[in-house]
Amino acid sequence: MKIKISVPGKIILSGEHAVVYGKPAIAAAVDKRLTVTLQSRDDGKRGVHSDAGDTKLIKAAINVVKDELKLRKKGAGRHSIFTNGYELNVESKIPVGAGMGSSAAAAVGAIAAFMVAYTKNHSIDHKKINDLAYRVEKIQHGNPSGIDNSTVTFGGFLWYRKEFEFLKTFWKLQFKIADKMDNFYLINTGRPDETTGEMVQTVRERFCKKKMPIGTKFLQILDNIESVAKQATLGIKGEDEGMLMEAIRQNELLLEKLGVVGQFAKNIVREIEAVGGTAKISGAGGIKDKSGLLLVYHTDKRAVEKIAKKYSLECSTAELGAEGVKLDKLIV
Ligand code: PMV
Repeated sequence: MKIKISVPGKIILSGEHAVVYGKPAIAAAVDKRLTVTLQSRDDGKRGVHSDAGDTKLIKAAINVVKDELKLRKKGAGRHSIFTNGYELNVESKIPVGAGMGSSAAAAVGAIAAFMVAYTKNHSIDHKKINDLAYRVEKIQHGNPSGIDNSTVTFGGFLWYRKEFEFLKTFWKLQFKIADKMDNFYLINTGRPDETTGEMVQTVRERFCKKKMPIGTKFLQILDNIESVAKQATLGIKGEDEGMLMEAIRQNELLLEKLGVVGQFAKNIVREIEAVGGTAKISGAGGIKDKSGLLLVYHTDKRAVEKIAKKYSLECSTAELGAEGVKLDKLIV
């Protein structure tokens, strides 16, 4: 049996960090994909290879599937792919550690591959895959909102909210970026020294330590992030460029207030703003050195490329709203 699964990357348009505290966020799947190929063997051997970071996460994902299928007890599932052996290969076009959902995509891809191998009709069960991938995110980050795994699983544009641990809701927004507003660019400022989990913890320690209930200053920032997430969404839907750009600008300032943007990324954002564009970090950020991905909006592509070049950074266009996890190939 050979199964090929592909999963998109993601960006957060607005609402990262606040989403951990129950606020809404808007995210979009992007057209840089990760591919997982699962091939069965008959010698009982198991191989896992990945060019998307370390394989610990993929092994955690495999264990989550085994738990779900109750295959971890000795003797269970004797005729399954798990005992007969397999080769799992992960190839990715999603930059690692940049806030583009590469680890969520790897977990979703590995889970989807084994679930497709194991289920009778070999179909993709998005909800099940998403629930299992969330468990892997929890092992990885401790207290994730679930926005990363949901966005790469379901694709498109997601308006996401975690009300409680047992109630994570999202609405798949039925819109696309209007042609005249197709001016998004991605600049990778570099892999942060901190993990997503550490950045979430940094915010918690800064604003919530010993302050129960949460202090008013923090609540104000969270409320303001909610407002700009709504403004960004309305800007895209209403094709109102000014509204969208102002929302991105305000969102960046709020993220800086939260303390998740490093000086290097701040400098680049200010330069983009000085030439008439707008930019924000997308994802958890980083403060020791680099801050991961910058989402840039500018009507002049060359102006953005010039700034990226000055800092020797990669700059690419972003197709937002890509399809979620999908089965690309199945040979039974
Ligand atoms: O993994 P990243 O860098 O895309 O960050 C995820 C977004 C956060 O809000 C910072 C964390 C979360 O779990 O929602």
